[in-house]
Amino acid sequence: MFRLLAICCCILSASSDDAINNHNFPENFSLGVATAAFQIEGAWNADGKGENLWDWFMHKYPEKIEGQANGDVACDSYYQWQEDVKLLRDLGVNHYRLSISWTRILPDGLANNFTLNQKGVNYYRTIFKILLDAGITPYVTLYHWDLPLPLHQLGGWVNPIIADHFAAYARVCFQQFGDLVKNWITINEPQTYCSLGYLTGEHAPGYILPAEAIYKCAYTTVMAHAKAYHIYQDEFKRTQNGRVSIVLDSPWFQPPSDSDEDQLASQRAFDFTLGLYANPIYVGNWPEQVISIVDYRSEMEGYPSSRLPKFTDEEIAYIKGTYDFFCLNSYSTNFAYHQNNKDERIDPDNVSFLSDQGVGFYVDPKWPSEVDWVNLVPSGFRKLIKYVHDTYNQPEIFITENGWAQNSTTSGTEDPARITYIKQYLSAALDAIYIDGANVTGYTVWSLMDNLEWDHGYQIKMGLVQVDFESVDRTRTPKASYTWYQNIIKNRCLAD
Ligand code: NOJ
Repeated sequence: MFRLLAICCCILSASSDDAINNHNFPENFSLGVATAAFQIEGAWNADGKGENLWDWFMHKYPEKIEGQANGDVACDSYYQWQEDVKLLRDLGVNHYRLSISWTRILPDGLANNFTLNQKGVNYYRTIFKILLDAGITPYVTLYHWDLPLPLHQLGGWVNPIIADHFAAYARVCFQQFGDLVKNWITINEPQTYCSLGYLTGEHAPGYILPAEAIYKCAYTTVMAHAKAYHIYQDEFKRTQNGRVSIVLDSPWFQPPSDSDEDQLASQRAFDFTLGLYANPIYVGNWPEQVISIVDYRSEMEGYPSSRLPKFTDEEIAYIKGTYDFFCLNSYSTNFAYHQNNKDERIDPDNVSFLSDQGVGFYVDPKWPSEVDWVNLVPSGFRKLIKYVHDTYNQPEIFITENGWAQNSTTSGTEDPARITYIKQYLSAALDAIYIDGANVTGYTVWSLMDNLEWDHGYQIKMGLVQVDFESVDRTRTPKASYTWYQNIIKNRCLAD
């Protein structure tokens, strides 16, 4: 009955004016789900896979991970990928975003004299082929945080040499999979691994370094992305005809007042997070405010040169425009307000990334939320899409992650909060398309199934499918949100 009603509403509204109807998805709008290799595959040392940064981090510092969890088995997808594909097929998704484990392909990750691990190549080729046979378009991320350990031992992302190793790996992937994969994402959420990995230490490698580490990490990341992009353009585009982008993440930063100070502060929040990665690629060079603030503060603090690495003119030209579309991850809204260095929450003797920004953040306790990086503010999501549209040359925008997080104590297969969240965010995306004129072409739920949420272990649940991490076969059980999303995809409208 519910289905019949929903179909009826969609047909009715499809025959009316789509421009004023925000329930129907545009014709080629792609609906999908996402996962990442380290979070689902397990089999951490099987079939020739090399050790990566997160394998090492979780084994060496179990106390830093909730429940002392690790990725040795995770969702066991290395062995149970057929179950995953069945779930995807039944769900009816148009696309599936997944990542390649770097060390399954190049076990030691080093660019020179590498050995290709054929078993790893075969694993992904099989999956890509089966997805295509099922009519599901793979969106493939080359790097979703699982850096080969030998590259971490070279210093990781704060060492610019990593860009060359990444470029070599990207070339191998284009060679091995480019006949099957046409939508490439070089790198996932650099802002997260640069800040949590090298500044706050919550993520691997767990370093707590001064602010310049973020700038170095951003520099290496942007160069790595640009190199991979050019390799694709120069060596593969003509024969493979795919497209390449990078996934960037951001909350919406809402100024809490109309004061100029707060308005400028929220812009600085964007510039020092999203802008650090998006501006060089979409505009050319770091955001101007970042350059002037970090240069000025470095001089005041007595540094011999700026803490911000500079791109040469050649590098700016090389990086600018290395995108075919804009991949956006977003989960939340934050208030971002002006905070000066006399604020007691900033230690003036300690040069920090936050003190460079001079921005304070908080959330409204009334916004529904179960974990601190996800809150239900769909109006912020719409504004963010508009911001990206306006700031970054009106690109095609593909939402590569969005979803609801629960604590394990509150999770089950009945998940009405997830349905509410996805529904409202999809609705906001449609408003961004129909009312604001943004070119949003796809939406991706994080995640297909509950999985390893990094330092939170298995305590945070974000899947449309529940995974029983106590069972040997990691039993998968679809939640209510899975059935709901299935209907949305089938009917291609949000009406209920
Ligand atoms: C960002 C990351 O890409 C993904 O790995 C993570 O699990 C989700 N967001 C949820 O936090």
